[in-house]
Amino acid sequence: MENTEVLILKEMLSAGDSFVSGNRLADIIGVSRVAVWGQMEKLRSQGFEFEAVRSKGYRLSQRPNALNRILIEAVLTRNAENLTIYTEDSVDSTNSEAERLLANNAPTPFAVFSLEQTSGRGRLGREWHSQNNGNLYSSFAFRPKILPSRLSTFTLWMGLNICECINSFCRIESKIKWPNDILVSGKKVAGILTEARMDADETRDIVLGLGLNVNSQPDNWPEELKMVATSLSEAARKPIDINRLTAALCGRIMTAYQQFVVDEHKSVIKEKWPSYDILRNKTVNLHQGESQISGIAQGIDSNGSLIIERSDGTRYQARAGEVTSHK
Ligand code: BTN
Repeated sequence: MENTEVLILKEMLSAGDSFVSGNRLADIIGVSRVAVWGQMEKLRSQGFEFEAVRSKGYRLSQRPNALNRILIEAVLTRNAENLTIYTEDSVDSTNSEAERLLANNAPTPFAVFSLEQTSGRGRLGREWHSQNNGNLYSSFAFRPKILPSRLSTFTLWMGLNICECINSFCRIESKIKWPNDILVSGKKVAGILTEARMDADETRDIVLGLGLNVNSQPDNWPEELKMVATSLSEAARKPIDINRLTAALCGRIMTAYQQFVVDEHKSVIKEKWPSYDILRNKTVNLHQGESQISGIAQGIDSNGSLIIERSDGTRYQARAGEVTSHK
């Protein structure tokens, strides 16, 4: 059941530039006009502004630019209706916060968003730069009833869906660098960190962590990032509505998760991966601890392993590791 603030906002958003009368809002929501006024005050305290004209009613005149739970929920698609959303101003890591919620038996599915992270983490123990700068720090948590062996394609499948979602929302052409990076024009725009817990031969839970550079200005980033990273707004050359984008991602991720659970995803990955695979036919070096394997990247196998064809024609199927590539 949606809360009153979300219902008010939905009505105001669908009215666009028109006014909505206090009576209408009260009728739709089933509360008194005084209660409507109280809810609007709450919305005002979160950065929403309303123009109020006697005899006409209210019109939304400003909304927060920053990530806002009510705004996300007001534009969520139906397939994401049962996703619980938690938003925080600051957390250590949204993945850690999701893990704590799971440990406290919070019902799934849920998503945690934060304006900043104080210990954002990336793959291979790296730090994920997580200032409060208009980027998205998010974690989606699920308890899938599937064998752990089936998880090997989870990150790739989610990455593919995230790529398609941001491409259509921002009108850009992002691609995937196996296994978890999303790039635009050769620069990283997003990273995925999937963390799962197992019980014997069952999956207990899984957290999909997504760090997405949305509206940050690369000029303000540390030197080492400027050369290798970009943001959606830089790639699209316009500011991105982070709340609508986040709602679109929630819908997409929920659908993708449902397809994954019933094993509907494999044939789609096979079909679509080649057009999103940034490494395809490139000379690559795969680093796995101290060892290194070089060859030509030839896509992925049915388990999501990267296929590398060595110069002697033999093929290596990499399940993990870090890839660097040359033209
Ligand atoms: C990578 O490219 O190495 C993966 C980066 C994943 C970063 C995201 S930000 C939200 C979530 N919380 C974290 O601490 N990490 C992930």
